[in-house]
Amino acid sequence: MSSSVLWKASVLHFLDDPASAPAEQAWEYVENGALLVRDGYIVACGMASDLQGDLPEGCEIKELPGRLLVPGFIDTHVHYPQLEVLAGCGVQLLDWLEQYTFPAEKQFENRDYADQVASFFLDQSLSHGTTTALVFGTVDPTSVDAFFAEAKKRNLRMICGKVMMDRNAPEYLLDTADSSYQDSKALIERWHGVDRLSYAVTPRFAPTSTPEQLTLAGQLLQEFDGLYLHTHMSENPKEVEWVQELFTTSDSYLGVYDDHGLLGKRSVFAHSIHLCDHSWDRLAESDSSVAFCPGSNLFLGSGLFNLSKAQETGVKTGLGTDVGGGTSLCLLNTMKDAYQVSQLSGQSISPLQAFYLATLGGARALHLENRIGSFKPGNEADFLVLDPTATPMLAFRSGKTKTIEELLGVLMVMGDDRVIEQTIIMGQVAHGRDS
Ligand code: GUN
Ligand code: ZN
Repeated sequence: MSSSVLWKASVLHFLDDPASAPAEQAWEYVENGALLVRDGYIVACGMASDLQGDLPEGCEIKELPGRLLVPGFIDTHVHYPQLEVLAGCGVQLLDWLEQYTFPAEKQFENRDYADQVASFFLDQSLSHGTTTALVFGTVDPTSVDAFFAEAKKRNLRMICGKVMMDRNAPEYLLDTADSSYQDSKALIERWHGVDRLSYAVTPRFAPTSTPEQLTLAGQLLQEFDGLYLHTHMSENPKEVEWVQELFTTSDSYLGVYDDHGLLGKRSVFAHSIHLCDHSWDRLAESDSSVAFCPGSNLFLGSGLFNLSKAQETGVKTGLGTDVGGGTSLCLLNTMKDAYQVSQLSGQSISPLQAFYLATLGGARALHLENRIGSFKPGNEADFLVLDPTATPMLAFRSGKTKTIEELLGVLMVMGDDRVIEQTIIMGQVAHGRDS
């Protein structure tokens, strides 16, 4: 039997990028709004008074006065096995990997441990309002089996992959070009396209893969439809220099990936900070995406992402927390970091732009805009009930706002996971702050 629910609250979602489209085409805000959901999918979004006039028989009505409904947040770059290295202070990227990250990732060969952390990670993601993420596993396929099993239990739209890494890391974490190909292939056959799950071919970054391994990564992309390619690129100046030394025949960092057939629709390059103009043009031309990870870039001292350049060239861009290089799983915090990075770069983004990046922008970067990221009819009903009065300070400050844009600014600058009152997955409550 079909089941319908009308969620009554203020509603905000994006139809286009507010940085380039006129306001009336970029976003829709309805103060006395409602969202009609049937069997896990969006049926309509609009004025409550309009929708209430024509409800399906037996439709349940949920009244949420003072609350704001937005699409679920999308994290376009995060490492679930790195929860335990979060807040590891004192070093930059390459030393941080050696000191903190590699030893932690070793533990994910143990299935029980991987199950526990995957379960905790997904519950925390939901309580922070993240409903879809592009996620790194570790080099051990066990880490990905554990992650997908837990995501499947929760009916989540998630993308994950096993790290491919056959050089320049501790011996205990290395695979080989051939074993990484075979292990990735087995995981793809087991998980890709199951329920809401997709697989990402995941070479860690150019320095930890031989050319043979990158070639096999490209071969996997050719062999299966709809796979993602997920890696890091041009995050830290020393890393960029190292890549030049290792790959002398490629003309740039992006060129290394390009030379191995790794660019294209559904390829996501995390960080992408230190790039030449030609690389930006090539990213755009190949319809590749980038993950802007401002929290991590500040914490690891990596540099300031050039969001204006991404916008000018039309490169699809999402936000990434990059935990554990990043400092929080919270996309509200990440929006605040993005705002601060944009201020430091003289590019000052609006709160609307930040919420776009965390929702429709992320969906576009993952080529999932026909499933998630907005309240378009037919999309999957993954959304959030936000409480602008979650703390006394928030209640005081949000009470003074006059426009939705001001309110979004308050939520992103002062908000955190306490603002996420409910997280809804395919129409069902998957997290309730007060329950
Ligand atoms: N580059 C290669 N591996 C990593 C990682 O685990 N985190 C970050 N931030 N950058 C990387
Ligand atoms: Zn990362």
